[in-house]
Amino acid sequence: MIRIGPYTLDSNIVLAPMAGVTDRPFRVIARQFGAGLAASEMITSDVRLWTTKKTRARMNHEGEPEPRVVQLAGSDPEALAEAARRNVDLGAQIIDINMGCPAKKVCNRLCGSALLTDEALVGRILTAVVNASSVPVTLKTRTGFGRDTRNGVRIAQLAESCGIAALAVHGRTREDFYDGDAEYETIREIRARIGIPLFANGDIDSPQKARTVLDFTGATGVMLGRAAHGSPWIFRDVNYFLSRGKNAPALPLRKICDTILAHLESLYDFYGEETGIRVARKHLGWYFGKLQDAPDVRRELMAAQSSSTQFALTKESLERLVDAGTTVATWGGIATSEEDSTCSGSGTERWGDVHDGENFTDQERLRSQRRA
Ligand SMILES: Cc1cc2nc3c(=O)[nH]c(=O)nc-3n(C[C@H](O)[C@H](O)[C@H](O)COP(=O)(O)O)c2cc1C
Repeated sequence: MIRIGPYTLDSNIVLAPMAGVTDRPFRVIARQFGAGLAASEMITSDVRLWTTKKTRARMNHEGEPEPRVVQLAGSDPEALAEAARRNVDLGAQIIDINMGCPAKKVCNRLCGSALLTDEALVGRILTAVVNASSVPVTLKTRTGFGRDTRNGVRIAQLAESCGIAALAVHGRTREDFYDGDAEYETIREIRARIGIPLFANGDIDSPQKARTVLDFTGATGVMLGRAAHGSPWIFRDVNYFLSRGKNAPALPLRKICDTILAHLESLYDFYGEETGIRVARKHLGWYFGKLQDAPDVRRELMAAQSSSTQFALTKESLERLVDAGTTVATWGGIATSEEDSTCSGSGTERWGDVHDGENFTDQERLRSQRRA
């Protein structure tokens, strides 16, 4: 079991922070399916920007399972320290610092992975935030800035000496952006040099890959990002595979339907009608993209102008899928048994002992039923 400060994680498989994806609704789902942690989308350390609707949404943790992780991005040690203090006051239980983002918008202001070019500044930032925070501070980083200047090991050692409680390392440099394959040699070297919990990240897209990366690197856990797009149940499947060495039984298709419909409901609730529909489009594209033999309704779904139309179309399409007995078999697969009769969102069944973390709240079920 991984400990981060006072928190013992239920799982060593965690969700990667992803701007535009890991909002509160998605984090809650990932945690329900067994992600050990789910950090917020990054929040700028510039408090003057905190009045925007976008940032306020990013700082909303109502009903989120503990420990709540807030990721901060910035380059000024004092500003980051102040941002950490304020987020702790607002309910953050772990502060994560972003030194991994390669985006130009972020890097031009020397933050994200651009900070890796200035190790002295990295030290000042980490020290300032650790000293200002009454909660554990973690760091997310890459293996270095350039392929020829991979300083990930030094950064990791610096982080540990500054009091960072856990580290996540994406196996690419800033120069790699997202190109090529993630490499895990540097992560293995980091593991050999530091004692704090370490999460390996990059291109882990199946339970088997998680096992391979854990064995190769010796990391304490793995962090999954894009693999969770359209399949937040991957955490259930990875947890199962790691603990038992075999694929989890197929997830009932009805559970998939309920999850997708509950996700839509929570997006409408969280963002309101207009933004809710827009954010939902992205997730629906991923969900239907991963559902083998899914009816090609994406164009229709993208065109839906109201949440009720979008929801009804989604429900109808999912029901057709259930009727057709479609399977999704990326790793564990999705069951198509007769018991998966409708996408009702109703029922209170647990899915046996493999369904850790999948217990949807009554409130979510009710929301689903409201639109049934
Ligand atoms: C859409 C998107 C948004 C991202 N936003 C962030 C972010 O806000 N903070 C961060 O540290 N990393 C961010 N990342 C990087 C991921 O956390 C992760 O390191 C990267 O996707 C590699 O992991 P994967 O191969 O499992 O996706 C983002 C990645 C994606 C695809």
